[in-house]
Amino acid sequence: MNENYMEKRCMEIIREIDPSLKYMEEFKMGSVKVLKVEKEGTIHVLKTAQFDYEWGVDHLKQERKILDLANGIRGITHLVQNYRDTENYKNPMLKEFYEGQSLRELNVKIQDTNAQKKLENTVRDLHSLGVAILDIQGRNIVLSPDKQDACLIDMGCGKLLQDTHSSEFERLKEDDLHDLEAYIFE
Ligand SMILES: Nc1ncnc2c1ncn2[C@@H]1O[C@H](COP(=O)(O)OP(=O)(O)OP(=O)(O)O)[C@@H](O)[C@H]1O
Ligand SMILES: [Mg+2]
Repeated sequence: MNENYMEKRCMEIIREIDPSLKYMEEFKMGSVKVLKVEKEGTIHVLKTAQFDYEWGVDHLKQERKILDLANGIRGITHLVQNYRDTENYKNPMLKEFYEGQSLRELNVKIQDTNAQKKLENTVRDLHSLGVAILDIQGRNIVLSPDKQDACLIDMGCGKLLQDTHSSEFERLKEDDLHDLEAYIFE
């Protein structure tokens, strides 16, 4: 499929969900759409799932639920707005954009100790809120251009304490902290 065709498809998605958005870039192709967009001069991320992609639809439902809860947490890209389902897309949402590149794209780990501390605090704050399994891997963490800060940009795999046995939740929290040390921190 050529670039023009893909761009046209993205613009159709935007038209269906919120025609006031301006298309900038497609972060991710596939049945979960992740688009960089502009709204009233500010960059945001539009994320939605194709209506027939069950896993993606559930994933985004969970992400919305967690983002609602995690409104006051620092170090994540907050929910800006939820949209109604459209004919072809479910659970569309507008999220904050965080400038940088994912650890996976850069193929690096986080070296800066301040950035490490901040991210660990974000994970611990989410745990205190009752959210674990943060799918801590390079593609879900964006590093700032100066490499001194990082942001968790995807909550779709998260588990809520209210849906888990508390002993299991303790184990899930340990898994997250292990993932940080094993895969994210240099
Ligand atoms: N809020 C954001 N700010 C900056 N970049 C973002 C943001 N959200 C997503 N991205 C970019 O888009 C990519 C995919 O986003 P996201 O992880 O939310 O989707 P996904 O469907 O879970 O994709 P994947 O399976 O690759 O993790 C990220 O790796 C990142 O490069
Ligand atoms: Mg992701």
